This record gives sequence, structure tokens and C-alpha cells, in this order.
Amino acid sequence: MNRNHGVSIACVGAGYWGRNLVRVFGSLPGSHLKMVCDNDPQVRARVADQYSNLTVVSDYESVLQDADIEAVVIAVPTVYHYETAKLALESGKHVFVEKPMTTRVDEAEELVEIAERKHLTLMVGHLLVHHPAIDALKRLINDGELGETCYLYSQRVNLGIVRKDENALWSLAPHDIAVMLYLLDQEPDAVSARGECYLQKDVEDVVFVNLHFKDGKMGQLQVSWLDPHRIRRLTIVGSDKMAVFDDMESAEKIRIYDKAAERDSYESYGEAITLRFGDVVIPHIHMDEPLKLECQHFVDCVSAGAKPRSDGHDGLRVVRVLQAAQQSLEQDGVPVGLAPGRG
Ligand SMILES: NC(=O)c1ccc[n+]([C@@H]2O[C@H](COP(=O)([O-])OP(=O)(O)OC[C@H]3O[C@@H](n4cnc5c(N)ncnc54)[C@H](O)[C@@H]3O)[C@@H](O)[C@H]2O)c1
Repeated sequence: MNRNHGVSIACVGAGYWGRNLVRVFGSLPGSHLKMVCDNDPQVRARVADQYSNLTVVSDYESVLQDADIEAVVIAVPTVYHYETAKLALESGKHVFVEKPMTTRVDEAEELVEIAERKHLTLMVGHLLVHHPAIDALKRLINDGELGETCYLYSQRVNLGIVRKDENALWSLAPHDIAVMLYLLDQEPDAVSARGECYLQKDVEDVVFVNLHFKDGKMGQLQVSWLDPHRIRRLTIVGSDKMAVFDDMESAEKIRIYDKAAERDSYESYGEAITLRFGDVVIPHIHMDEPLKLECQHFVDCVSAGAKPRSDGHDGLRVVRVLQAAQQSLEQDGVPVGLAPGRG
């Protein structure tokens, strides 16, 4: 272990997404990317070609056996997250694992338990909770700027990437579920989901998920890889104001609408609803690459022994919602209850 060089890291899986993690961890202050592991020879050749300073290996055992490596960054396909993360934790290494943390709740619980028992950092790649615009929305909600949050809904739709080993729910919804739980600071008590498979048998291409919270708040998610539009949008409706986060906008990511419907009481007329149409404010948000912020956060947490913003418990909470949504999907949308706050 050599802290002069920063946290010594190995990236496992350098495919479509992992190559971004290799790029960022390879250039962060406080991070020393030492090794990349991938079982595809073409991927290894590309990485070796691009980064001559890295050790590129095919067998995961080399990562686990290397006592110098303090942290493992995992971007293998989701079905392998659990076993890859478990082996790393059991070898005494801190873990950053891509979303969703696992494909089952019991597996997520086990990873959390191992990390805690061994005092290791376990962080999940819930990228959006590290996004400066989500920070800004969280402040708006916490400061009461929007009034009481009534409901929120997200759309994450595009044509592609069509996956074979997971449906649109598990592939796309973890980001929005993580954000909704983070913004509302609570877990839903019931989840329902409907979806359809148009391209492949038993792999839903489009899914609508409804989250019900015990205080009457509601979250709605639309995810699809079979859509003509490319939309990454979150709308929050508060009792005083409404806010929209549009991640496809390059600069004006958030708009705050001074719009509301208010209930007035008149002695003679009874109750009336007044609609308010006020200004639209576009706050300045200091943008930095969310992936860079996320990776820097992991390195900082490992160095300081601090709790990450998207830690194993958050990963577990998101998997719990996904598993309930999957159960609902398989039962034509019947609401599936979630036991409160065990994570
Ligand atoms: N945070 C985000 O926005 C985001 C975006 C896309 C994907 N992801 C996540 O990243 C992960 C990887 O997705 P992807 O699209 O990059 O997949 P991918 O198939 O493009 O890449 C996976 C890579 O892992 C390698 N691999 C598979 N099993 C391995 C093993 N046992 N040991 C070593 N290497 C192995 C493959 O050869 C491949 O190169 C998934 O969990 C996915 O959900 C996150």
C-alpha cells in the first residue's frame, strides 16, 4: 500500500461503461489505477494499447491476490456483480460496484454485511445522486422552496441500448429509483409495475413503475429502450412550485416554475381553487462531470474511511424496490408491499 500514489485500484470489466471508469480513475487526484481485468481479449488489447502504464489481466484471481490493490471497481454485467464484489470484499478490498448492486435482495444484504464486518467501503454507481443538478434539487426540497413535495415522475427513454441479459427495468430504472429515494429521503411502502416485451421473449422493453410512499407522496418512472425520443427528465410537483430537471439540456438543466394550484376558503363561496402562473427561473448550476465527481467521492471515502453518499445500504434499498417491481411486473401490475426500513 503506497499512499503517496493514492488509493491503489483495479477495474474489473472495461466494456461499454467500464472504459469510462478506467478513463476517470486513471486520471483522478488521490487515485492510482494499477490494473484492469477483463475476460475479453479484444477489450484487453484496446486497454493495453491505450494505457501502457497499466497491468492488463484476464483472470480475476490476479486482482484478488495482489496485496497492493486496495479497491476494486466493478463494471461487469449485472448478473456477475454479486460474486465479483463478494470475492473482492472477502479479500479485504474496498468495492465500487456499478448499478444495480445485485440482482437479488438477499445478495445485496450479504454484501452490506460483509463490508460492515470487515470495515470496508462499499459504494454503488448511482451516478445521478452525484449530479450537481440533483444536488440543487435536493437543496430546493430541503429548503422548502417547492413547498411540500406532492409527486415526482421521471422519463428515461431512448432507442437502444437493447440488452439481452436484463430488462429495461433493471437496466435503466436504478438511476431514477436511487434519485427518488434520495430526494424524498424515504423508501416506498408499495410498488407496482407494468411492462411489455416487444423485441425479445421475457425481456421487457418498456416499463412503467409506480412508487407509493406512506405519507401520500408518489413517484412514477417510465423506462424504455424502444422509443423515438431521447429523454432524461425528472419533474417534481410541489405545493408551492414545480421543478424540472432535463439532463439533455447542456446548460439550463433545471427550471423552477412558480406555478401552483391553491385552495382558498371564502365564507360565502365555500372552497375555491386558484391557479397561479408565475415566472420561470433557471438557476445557474456549476457543472462538473458527474462520473468524475462520483469516482472522486469513492476515492475520498476510501482514503478517509467515510460513508459514501451511495453506499451499500442505498444499493440494497434500490434492489429492494427493483425486486418488488419485478414481482409486480410478473403479476400484471398488482401492488407489492415493502417492509419498512430494514436497510
Ligand atoms: N452508471 C451508468 O450510467 C451505467 C451505464 C451503463 C452500464 N452500467 C453498468 O455497467 C455494468 C457493465 O455494463 P456494460 O454496458 O459496460 O457491459 P459490457 O458487456 O459492455 O461490458 C462488460 C465487460 O465485462 C467483461 N466481463 C464479463 N465478465 C467478466 C468477468 N467475470 N471478469 C472480468 N471481466 C468480465 C466483459 O468482457 C465486458 O468487456 C453493468 O452493471 C451496467 O448496469 C452503468
